[in-house]
Amino acid sequence: MPPPDLDRARLRAIADGDRPLTPEECAERARLAADLIDPGRLDRSGSGEAVLLWRDEHSEAWLNLWWQPRDTGYHDHTGSCVGVHVIAGRAWNEPLTVGVPPVAREYGPGDTFWFPGDGIHRMDHEAGAITIHVYSPPIRAIGHYDLDDGQLRRILGLPDEPSPPSAALYEALHPGS
Ligand SMILES: [Fe+2]
Repeated sequence: MPPPDLDRARLRAIADGDRPLTPEECAERARLAADLIDPGRLDRSGSGEAVLLWRDEHSEAWLNLWWQPRDTGYHDHTGSCVGVHVIAGRAWNEPLTVGVPPVAREYGPGDTFWFPGDGIHRMDHEAGAITIHVYSPPIRAIGHYDLDDGQLRRILGLPDEPSPPSAALYEALHPGS
């Protein structure tokens, strides 16, 4: 599918900076980048994709087209924080918790949130959701979490490799769901 028309010069101006971004700054840049995307002009064929908006020394940004529902499983970003802006549809962010019940907070069109670089979370996206994720610094690797015979394992993945759902860990944290 052809990439959407992108105003690269304006995206570069949004990304511009001389140091790593705070989580709040990632969220603000995700919101600013969303102003440049016209959801009505996106090609909705295929199962969806991640379109790189920018990657420089201090941050990277992705336009994510979720034409199919997607559960990322529990993962970390190896120290990179993230700011997320929802353009269309709904997305849920669930920090990994131990000892307190999990809470998957829902975000809809126009909502922005961030997650710290030392956190572990899971995101769910409904079919048709469109989001922008800004990471700082650029992701070096993804740590994916699941249980192996009851023991928590961290499996290292490539930064641009979609992580699978964490079936056993999800079941352990949401018994009976
Ligand atoms: Fe994430």
